[in-house]
Amino acid sequence: MTETADAAGPPAYPMPRTCPFALPEQYARLREEEPLARVLLPTGREAWLATRYEDVRRLFTDANLSADRVHPGFPALLSGQQAIDRRGFLPWMDPPEHTTYRRMVISEFTVRKVETLRPAVTRTVQECLDRILAGPRTVDLVQELALPVPSLTICELLGVPYGDREVFQSRARLMTDRNTSGPDRLNSLVELRAYLHGLVLRRQAEPREDLLSRLAVRYREAGVEDAEHLTGMALLILVAGHETTANMIALGTAYLIEHPDLRDTLVKDPSLVPKAVEEMLRYFSISDHSTGRVALADIELGDTTIAAGEGVLLSNAAANRDARAFERPEEFDLSRESPSHVAFGYGIHQCLGQNLARLELDVVFTALLARLPDLRLAAPLAELPFKNDTIMYGLHELPVTW
Ligand code: HEM
Repeated sequence: MTETADAAGPPAYPMPRTCPFALPEQYARLREEEPLARVLLPTGREAWLATRYEDVRRLFTDANLSADRVHPGFPALLSGQQAIDRRGFLPWMDPPEHTTYRRMVISEFTVRKVETLRPAVTRTVQECLDRILAGPRTVDLVQELALPVPSLTICELLGVPYGDREVFQSRARLMTDRNTSGPDRLNSLVELRAYLHGLVLRRQAEPREDLLSRLAVRYREAGVEDAEHLTGMALLILVAGHETTANMIALGTAYLIEHPDLRDTLVKDPSLVPKAVEEMLRYFSISDHSTGRVALADIELGDTTIAAGEGVLLSNAAANRDARAFERPEEFDLSRESPSHVAFGYGIHQCLGQNLARLELDVVFTALLARLPDLRLAAPLAELPFKNDTIMYGLHELPVTW
Protein backbone atom coordinates (compact mmCIF):
# COMPACT_ATOMS: atom_id res chain seq x y z
CA MET A 1 0.00 0.00 0.00
CA THR A 2 1.21 3.56 -0.73
CA GLU A 3 2.31 5.37 2.42
CA THR A 4 1.87 8.93 1.18
CA ALA A 5 0.23 10.69 -1.77
CA ASP A 6 1.19 13.68 -3.89
CA ALA A 7 -1.03 16.69 -4.62
CA ALA A 8 -2.87 14.78 -7.35
CA GLY A 9 -3.37 11.76 -5.06
CA PRO A 10 -6.48 10.67 -3.22
CA PRO A 11 -8.58 13.14 -1.21
CA ALA A 12 -7.80 13.65 2.46
CA TYR A 13 -9.99 11.87 5.00
CA PRO A 14 -11.83 12.73 7.25
CA MET A 15 -13.67 15.14 4.97
CA PRO A 16 -15.14 18.24 6.65
CA ARG A 17 -18.88 18.89 7.02
CA THR A 18 -19.30 22.40 5.61
CA CYS A 19 -22.95 22.76 6.64
CA PRO A 20 -23.79 21.62 10.19
CA PHE A 21 -26.63 19.25 9.26
CA ALA A 22 -25.26 18.07 5.91
CA LEU A 23 -22.61 15.46 5.18
CA PRO A 24 -19.21 16.22 3.67
CA GLU A 25 -19.88 17.43 0.13
CA GLN A 26 -17.55 14.87 -1.49
CA TYR A 27 -19.63 11.93 -0.24
CA ALA A 28 -22.39 12.38 -2.86
CA ARG A 29 -19.94 12.40 -5.76
CA LEU A 30 -17.92 9.47 -4.44
CA ARG A 31 -21.09 7.40 -3.87
CA GLU A 32 -22.12 7.89 -7.52
CA GLU A 33 -18.75 7.84 -9.29
CA GLU A 34 -16.32 5.96 -7.05
CA PRO A 35 -18.25 3.93 -4.46
CA LEU A 36 -15.02 2.36 -3.24
CA ALA A 37 -12.50 5.20 -3.31
CA ARG A 38 -8.92 5.64 -2.18
CA VAL A 39 -8.49 8.26 0.57
CA LEU A 40 -5.48 9.67 2.41
CA LEU A 41 -5.55 9.36 6.21
CA PRO A 42 -4.05 11.87 8.70
CA THR A 43 -1.35 9.28 9.43
CA GLY A 44 -0.12 9.53 5.80
CA ARG A 45 -1.39 6.06 4.91
CA GLU A 46 -4.08 5.35 2.33
CA ALA A 47 -7.29 3.35 2.78
CA TRP A 48 -10.51 2.53 0.93
CA LEU A 49 -13.72 4.45 1.64
CA ALA A 50 -17.04 2.66 0.99
CA THR A 51 -20.06 4.96 0.55
CA ARG A 52 -22.99 2.89 -0.80
CA TYR A 53 -25.60 1.37 1.55
CA GLU A 54 -25.44 -2.15 0.12
CA ASP A 55 -21.63 -2.18 -0.01
CA VAL A 56 -21.31 -0.85 3.54
CA ARG A 57 -23.74 -3.49 4.88
CA ARG A 58 -22.01 -6.25 2.94
CA LEU A 59 -18.57 -5.18 4.28
CA PHE A 60 -19.86 -4.91 7.87
CA THR A 61 -20.65 -8.64 7.71
CA ASP A 62 -17.50 -9.79 5.87
CA ALA A 63 -15.60 -12.24 8.07
CA ASN A 64 -12.40 -11.33 6.23
CA LEU A 65 -12.53 -7.81 7.64
CA SER A 66 -10.98 -7.40 11.06
CA ALA A 67 -11.73 -4.71 13.66
CA ASP A 68 -8.36 -5.12 15.33
CA ARG A 69 -6.90 -1.59 15.67
CA VAL A 70 -3.49 -3.04 16.49
CA HIS A 71 -3.15 -4.62 13.04
CA PRO A 72 -0.53 -2.54 11.13
CA GLY A 73 -2.93 -2.09 8.18
CA PHE A 74 -5.83 -0.78 10.29
CA PRO A 75 -6.95 2.65 8.99
CA ALA A 76 -6.28 4.50 12.25
CA LEU A 77 -7.46 8.14 12.34
CA LEU A 78 -6.02 8.98 15.72
CA SER A 79 -2.36 9.19 16.56
CA GLY A 80 -1.17 6.80 19.25
CA GLN A 81 -4.21 4.54 18.85
CA GLN A 82 -2.21 1.45 17.96
CA ALA A 83 -0.07 1.62 21.10
CA ILE A 84 -3.14 1.46 23.34
CA ASP A 85 -3.79 -1.36 25.82
CA ARG A 86 -6.75 -2.95 24.05
CA ARG A 87 -7.69 -5.59 26.64
CA GLY A 88 -11.46 -5.67 27.06
CA PHE A 89 -12.23 -3.33 24.11
CA LEU A 90 -15.15 -5.09 22.45
CA PRO A 91 -15.17 -3.09 19.20
CA TRP A 92 -11.48 -3.89 18.67
CA MET A 93 -11.93 -7.67 18.98
CA ASP A 94 -12.58 -10.29 16.32
CA PRO A 95 -14.36 -13.62 16.82
CA PRO A 96 -14.03 -15.91 18.68
CA GLU A 97 -12.82 -13.52 21.43
CA HIS A 98 -15.46 -10.94 20.48
CA THR A 99 -18.26 -13.54 20.63
CA THR A 100 -17.22 -14.65 24.13
CA TYR A 101 -17.19 -11.16 25.63
CA ARG A 102 -20.19 -9.74 23.76
CA ARG A 103 -22.24 -12.68 25.07
CA MET A 104 -21.19 -11.77 28.57
CA VAL A 105 -22.72 -8.28 28.40
CA ILE A 106 -25.49 -8.40 25.76
CA SER A 107 -28.25 -9.39 28.23
CA GLU A 108 -27.73 -6.05 30.01
CA PHE A 109 -28.75 -4.04 26.93
CA THR A 110 -31.86 -5.80 25.58
CA VAL A 111 -34.96 -3.64 24.93
CA ARG A 112 -36.69 -5.14 27.96
CA LYS A 113 -33.75 -4.65 30.33
CA VAL A 114 -33.12 -1.10 29.15
CA GLU A 115 -36.82 -0.25 29.51
CA THR A 116 -36.46 -0.80 33.29
CA LEU A 117 -34.18 2.26 33.30
CA ARG A 118 -36.93 4.56 31.92
CA PRO A 119 -38.11 5.84 35.35
CA ALA A 120 -34.54 6.70 36.41
CA VAL A 121 -33.75 8.38 33.07
CA THR A 122 -37.03 10.33 33.25
CA ARG A 123 -36.21 11.51 36.79
CA THR A 124 -32.72 12.64 35.70
CA VAL A 125 -34.10 14.53 32.69
CA GLN A 126 -36.83 16.23 34.75
CA GLU A 127 -34.30 17.28 37.41
CA CYS A 128 -32.02 18.77 34.75
CA LEU A 129 -34.97 20.67 33.27
CA ASP A 130 -36.07 21.86 36.75
CA ARG A 131 -32.58 23.30 37.30
CA ILE A 132 -32.52 24.92 33.86
CA LEU A 133 -35.95 26.54 34.36
CA ALA A 134 -35.00 27.81 37.82
CA GLY A 135 -31.77 29.46 36.63
CA PRO A 136 -30.79 32.28 34.24
CA ARG A 137 -32.62 32.24 30.90
CA THR A 138 -29.50 31.50 28.84
CA VAL A 139 -27.70 28.19 29.36
CA ASP A 140 -25.27 25.86 27.64
CA LEU A 141 -27.53 22.90 26.96
CA VAL A 142 -24.53 20.57 26.53
CA GLN A 143 -23.41 21.14 30.14
CA GLU A 144 -26.91 21.31 31.63
CA LEU A 145 -28.68 18.48 29.82
CA ALA A 146 -26.90 16.73 26.95
CA LEU A 147 -23.90 15.53 29.00
CA PRO A 148 -25.46 14.94 32.45
CA VAL A 149 -28.30 12.68 31.24
CA PRO A 150 -26.23 9.96 29.54
CA SER A 151 -23.36 10.38 32.04
CA LEU A 152 -25.59 9.88 35.07
CA THR A 153 -27.43 7.01 33.41
CA ILE A 154 -24.30 5.10 32.46
CA CYS A 155 -22.69 5.79 35.86
CA GLU A 156 -25.73 4.42 37.68
CA LEU A 157 -25.89 1.41 35.41
CA LEU A 158 -22.20 0.57 35.74
CA GLY A 159 -21.88 1.51 39.40
CA VAL A 160 -19.38 4.34 38.82
CA PRO A 161 -19.75 7.20 41.36
CA TYR A 162 -21.13 10.22 39.43
CA GLY A 163 -19.14 12.47 41.78
CA ASP A 164 -16.03 11.26 39.94
CA ARG A 165 -17.38 12.39 36.55
CA GLU A 166 -14.66 14.98 36.01
CA VAL A 167 -12.12 12.13 35.94
CA PHE A 168 -13.79 10.41 33.02
CA GLN A 169 -15.43 13.33 31.19
CA SER A 170 -12.15 15.22 30.83
CA ARG A 171 -10.20 12.08 29.84
CA ALA A 172 -12.91 10.99 27.38
CA ARG A 173 -12.82 14.45 25.77
CA LEU A 174 -9.05 14.19 25.28
CA MET A 175 -9.27 10.62 24.01
CA THR A 176 -11.72 11.44 21.20
CA ASP A 177 -10.26 14.82 20.17
CA ARG A 178 -8.35 14.53 16.89
CA ASN A 179 -5.96 17.30 18.00
CA THR A 180 -4.80 15.40 21.09
CA SER A 181 -1.21 14.25 20.66
CA GLY A 182 -0.40 10.53 20.77
CA PRO A 183 1.33 10.72 24.19
CA ASP A 184 -1.53 12.78 25.70
CA ARG A 185 -4.11 10.33 24.37
CA LEU A 186 -2.23 7.40 25.85
CA ASN A 187 -1.86 9.26 29.12
CA SER A 188 -5.62 9.96 29.38
CA LEU A 189 -6.34 6.33 28.73
CA VAL A 190 -3.79 5.14 31.30
CA GLU A 191 -5.31 7.50 33.93
CA LEU A 192 -8.86 6.43 33.17
CA ARG A 193 -7.85 2.77 33.21
CA ALA A 194 -6.12 3.23 36.58
CA TYR A 195 -9.25 4.87 38.04
CA LEU A 196 -11.56 2.12 36.76
CA HIS A 197 -9.13 -0.64 37.68
CA GLY A 198 -9.44 0.35 41.35
CA LEU A 199 -13.23 0.24 41.05
CA VAL A 200 -13.17 -3.18 39.35
CA LEU A 201 -11.01 -4.63 42.13
CA ARG A 202 -13.46 -3.29 44.73
CA ARG A 203 -16.47 -4.78 42.88
CA GLN A 204 -14.71 -8.11 42.41
CA ALA A 205 -14.07 -8.27 46.15
CA GLU A 206 -17.51 -6.99 47.18
CA PRO A 207 -20.13 -7.24 44.43
CA ARG A 208 -23.03 -4.76 44.54
CA GLU A 209 -26.25 -4.30 42.58
CA ASP A 210 -24.59 -2.89 39.45
CA LEU A 211 -23.44 -3.92 35.98
CA LEU A 212 -19.75 -3.96 36.87
CA SER A 213 -20.40 -6.35 39.78
CA ARG A 214 -22.62 -8.59 37.64
CA LEU A 215 -19.94 -8.71 34.95
CA ALA A 216 -17.29 -9.54 37.58
CA VAL A 217 -19.39 -12.51 38.69
CA ARG A 218 -20.05 -13.61 35.07
CA TYR A 219 -16.36 -13.40 34.14
CA ARG A 220 -15.51 -15.52 37.18
CA GLU A 221 -18.18 -18.12 36.36
CA ALA A 222 -16.98 -18.32 32.75
CA GLY A 223 -13.40 -18.84 33.93
CA VAL A 224 -12.17 -15.62 32.28
CA GLU A 225 -11.70 -13.56 35.43
CA ASP A 226 -9.29 -10.80 34.51
CA ALA A 227 -9.42 -7.39 36.17
CA GLU A 228 -7.61 -5.68 33.24
CA HIS A 229 -10.06 -7.12 30.73
CA LEU A 230 -13.06 -6.05 32.80
CA THR A 231 -11.52 -2.61 33.24
CA GLY A 232 -11.29 -2.25 29.44
CA MET A 233 -14.93 -3.27 29.03
CA ALA A 234 -16.01 -0.78 31.73
CA LEU A 235 -13.95 1.98 30.13
CA LEU A 236 -15.48 1.33 26.76
CA ILE A 237 -19.07 1.33 28.04
CA LEU A 238 -18.44 4.46 30.09
CA VAL A 239 -16.92 6.45 27.21
CA ALA A 240 -19.16 5.09 24.43
CA GLY A 241 -22.18 5.49 26.69
CA HIS A 242 -22.00 9.22 27.29
CA GLU A 243 -20.16 10.97 24.42
CA THR A 244 -22.37 9.56 21.68
CA THR A 245 -25.80 10.24 23.18
CA ALA A 246 -24.69 13.67 24.42
CA ASN A 247 -23.80 14.68 20.87
CA MET A 248 -27.12 13.42 19.56
CA ILE A 249 -29.05 15.42 22.19
CA ALA A 250 -27.19 18.63 21.33
CA LEU A 251 -27.42 18.20 17.56
CA GLY A 252 -31.05 17.10 17.69
CA THR A 253 -32.03 20.12 19.80
CA ALA A 254 -30.23 22.53 17.45
CA TYR A 255 -31.97 20.88 14.49
CA LEU A 256 -35.44 21.14 16.09
CA ILE A 257 -34.86 24.82 16.92
CA GLU A 258 -33.84 25.51 13.32
CA HIS A 259 -36.85 23.59 11.93
CA PRO A 260 -39.88 25.02 13.74
CA ASP A 261 -42.43 23.12 11.61
CA LEU A 262 -40.91 19.83 12.67
CA ARG A 263 -40.72 21.00 16.27
CA ASP A 264 -44.40 22.10 16.26
CA THR A 265 -45.46 18.75 14.80
CA LEU A 266 -43.68 16.95 17.65
CA VAL A 267 -45.04 19.32 20.30
CA LYS A 268 -48.59 18.60 19.03
CA ASP A 269 -48.01 14.85 18.76
CA PRO A 270 -45.25 13.58 21.08
CA SER A 271 -45.97 9.99 19.98
CA LEU A 272 -43.92 10.88 16.88
CA VAL A 273 -40.74 11.48 18.92
CA PRO A 274 -39.37 7.92 18.44
CA LYS A 275 -39.75 8.38 14.66
CA ALA A 276 -37.92 11.70 14.88
CA VAL A 277 -35.13 10.07 16.92
CA GLU A 278 -34.69 7.36 14.28
CA GLU A 279 -34.53 9.96 11.54
CA MET A 280 -32.04 12.06 13.56
CA LEU A 281 -29.81 8.99 13.93
CA ARG A 282 -29.88 8.40 10.17
CA TYR A 283 -29.56 12.06 9.26
CA PHE A 284 -26.66 13.02 11.55
CA SER A 285 -24.80 9.65 11.57
CA ILE A 286 -22.41 11.00 14.20
CA SER A 287 -20.26 7.83 14.39
CA ASP A 288 -19.15 7.99 10.78
CA HIS A 289 -15.47 7.78 11.71
CA SER A 290 -15.47 4.86 14.11
CA THR A 291 -16.16 2.01 11.69
CA GLY A 292 -12.77 1.17 10.19
CA ARG A 293 -11.67 -2.36 9.32
CA VAL A 294 -8.60 -4.10 7.87
CA ALA A 295 -8.72 -6.90 5.27
CA LEU A 296 -7.31 -10.26 6.38
CA ALA A 297 -7.66 -11.71 2.85
CA ASP A 298 -8.41 -10.30 -0.61
CA ILE A 299 -12.04 -9.11 -0.88
CA GLU A 300 -13.84 -8.53 -4.19
CA LEU A 301 -16.35 -5.70 -4.26
CA GLY A 302 -17.77 -4.99 -7.72
CA ASP A 303 -14.77 -4.75 -10.00
CA THR A 304 -12.38 -3.70 -7.22
CA THR A 305 -10.20 -5.87 -5.02
CA ILE A 306 -9.42 -4.84 -1.48
CA ALA A 307 -6.06 -6.54 -0.96
CA ALA A 308 -5.19 -8.38 2.24
CA GLY A 309 -3.63 -5.91 4.69
CA GLU A 310 -5.46 -2.84 3.34
CA GLY A 311 -7.69 -0.64 5.48
CA VAL A 312 -11.37 0.11 4.72
CA LEU A 313 -13.59 2.84 6.16
CA LEU A 314 -17.28 1.96 6.13
CA SER A 315 -19.08 5.29 5.90
CA ASN A 316 -22.39 4.80 7.65
CA ALA A 317 -23.16 8.49 7.06
CA ALA A 318 -22.79 8.21 3.27
CA ALA A 319 -24.72 4.90 3.28
CA ASN A 320 -27.54 6.51 5.27
CA ARG A 321 -28.09 9.08 2.50
CA ASP A 322 -27.89 6.64 -0.40
CA ALA A 323 -30.90 7.17 -2.68
CA ARG A 324 -30.73 3.47 -3.65
CA ALA A 325 -31.89 2.65 -0.12
CA PHE A 326 -33.72 5.78 1.08
CA GLU A 327 -36.23 7.76 -0.97
CA ARG A 328 -35.40 11.50 -0.96
CA PRO A 329 -32.48 10.82 1.46
CA GLU A 330 -31.71 14.52 1.99
CA GLU A 331 -35.17 15.08 3.52
CA PHE A 332 -35.79 14.69 7.23
CA ASP A 333 -38.95 12.61 6.90
CA LEU A 334 -41.04 11.53 9.90
CA SER A 335 -43.08 9.13 7.77
CA ARG A 336 -40.05 7.23 6.49
CA GLU A 337 -40.63 3.48 6.34
CA SER A 338 -37.53 2.58 4.33
CA PRO A 339 -34.91 0.10 5.57
CA SER A 340 -32.95 0.33 8.77
CA HIS A 341 -30.25 2.96 8.85
CA VAL A 342 -26.71 1.91 9.72
CA ALA A 343 -25.96 4.73 12.18
CA PHE A 344 -25.36 2.05 14.86
CA GLY A 345 -23.28 -0.03 12.45
CA TYR A 346 -24.35 -3.49 11.31
CA GLY A 347 -23.26 -7.08 11.86
CA ILE A 348 -21.41 -8.46 14.88
CA HIS A 349 -20.20 -5.09 16.18
CA GLN A 350 -23.59 -3.36 15.86
CA CYS A 351 -23.90 -0.89 18.74
CA LEU A 352 -24.35 -2.61 22.07
CA GLY A 353 -25.97 0.48 23.59
CA GLN A 354 -28.46 1.30 20.83
CA ASN A 355 -31.57 0.51 22.91
CA LEU A 356 -30.26 2.65 25.73
CA ALA A 357 -29.43 5.51 23.34
CA ARG A 358 -32.93 5.36 21.80
CA LEU A 359 -34.56 5.38 25.24
CA GLU A 360 -32.51 8.36 26.46
CA LEU A 361 -33.19 10.34 23.28
CA ASP A 362 -36.92 9.57 23.44
CA VAL A 363 -37.18 10.69 27.08
CA VAL A 364 -35.05 13.82 26.54
CA PHE A 365 -36.84 15.14 23.45
CA THR A 366 -40.32 14.34 24.79
CA ALA A 367 -39.62 16.23 28.03
CA LEU A 368 -37.72 19.08 26.39
CA LEU A 369 -40.51 19.77 23.87
CA ALA A 370 -43.13 19.65 26.61
CA ARG A 371 -41.35 21.94 29.06
CA LEU A 372 -39.38 24.28 26.77
CA PRO A 373 -41.36 24.33 23.49
CA ASP A 374 -40.14 27.84 22.64
CA LEU A 375 -36.40 27.19 23.03
CA ARG A 376 -34.20 29.41 20.80
CA LEU A 377 -30.50 29.55 19.99
CA ALA A 378 -28.64 32.19 22.01
CA ALA A 379 -26.01 32.54 19.24
CA PRO A 380 -26.22 32.40 15.43
CA LEU A 381 -26.16 28.83 14.07
CA ALA A 382 -23.04 29.59 12.02
CA GLU A 383 -21.16 30.51 15.21
CA LEU A 384 -21.94 27.32 17.13
CA PRO A 385 -18.88 25.15 17.86
CA PHE A 386 -19.71 22.03 15.84
CA LYS A 387 -17.26 19.15 16.42
CA ASN A 388 -15.28 18.93 13.23
CA ASP A 389 -12.17 18.07 15.24
CA THR A 390 -13.27 14.88 17.00
CA ILE A 391 -14.00 11.37 15.77
CA MET A 392 -17.60 11.77 16.92
CA TYR A 393 -19.66 14.57 15.31
CA GLY A 394 -21.66 16.82 17.61
CA LEU A 395 -21.50 20.14 19.43
CA HIS A 396 -18.99 21.34 22.03
CA GLU A 397 -21.53 23.88 23.35
CA LEU A 398 -25.16 24.77 22.65
CA PRO A 399 -26.13 28.17 24.08
CA VAL A 400 -29.94 28.42 24.26
CA THR A 401 -32.52 30.81 25.63
CA TRP A 402 -36.35 30.87 25.97
C1 HEM B 1 -20.61 0.11 18.78
C2 HEM B 1 -22.75 4.23 17.35
C3 HEM B 1 -24.52 4.86 21.84
C4 HEM B 1 -21.76 1.21 23.39
C5 HEM B 1 -21.09 1.14 18.00
C6 HEM B 1 -20.92 1.23 16.57
C7 HEM B 1 -21.50 2.40 16.17
C8 HEM B 1 -22.06 3.04 17.34
C9 HEM B 1 -21.56 2.95 14.75
C10 HEM B 1 -20.26 0.19 15.66
C11 HEM B 1 -18.76 0.34 15.62
C12 HEM B 1 -18.12 -0.62 14.62
O1 HEM B 1 -18.80 -1.28 13.84
O2 HEM B 1 -16.89 -0.69 14.60
C13 HEM B 1 -23.42 4.76 18.44
C14 HEM B 1 -24.29 5.92 18.41
C15 HEM B 1 -24.79 6.10 19.67
C16 HEM B 1 -24.24 5.03 20.50
C17 HEM B 1 -24.59 6.76 17.16
C18 HEM B 1 -25.73 7.14 20.24
C19 HEM B 1 -26.66 7.74 19.60
C20 HEM B 1 -23.95 3.92 22.65
C21 HEM B 1 -24.23 3.76 24.06
C22 HEM B 1 -23.43 2.75 24.50
C23 HEM B 1 -22.67 2.25 23.36
C24 HEM B 1 -25.24 4.59 24.86
C25 HEM B 1 -23.41 2.28 25.93
C26 HEM B 1 -23.45 1.13 26.32
C27 HEM B 1 -21.21 0.61 22.27
C28 HEM B 1 -20.34 -0.56 22.32
C29 HEM B 1 -20.01 -0.88 20.99
C30 HEM B 1 -20.68 0.10 20.16
C31 HEM B 1 -19.89 -1.29 23.57
C32 HEM B 1 -19.12 -2.03 20.51
C33 HEM B 1 -19.96 -3.25 20.22
C34 HEM B 1 -19.14 -4.42 19.69
O3 HEM B 1 -18.04 -4.25 19.19
O4 HEM B 1 -19.65 -5.56 19.78
N1 HEM B 1 -21.79 2.24 18.45
N2 HEM B 1 -23.40 4.26 19.72
N3 HEM B 1 -23.01 2.99 22.26
N4 HEM B 1 -21.39 0.97 20.95
FE1 HEM B 1 -22.48 2.54 20.34
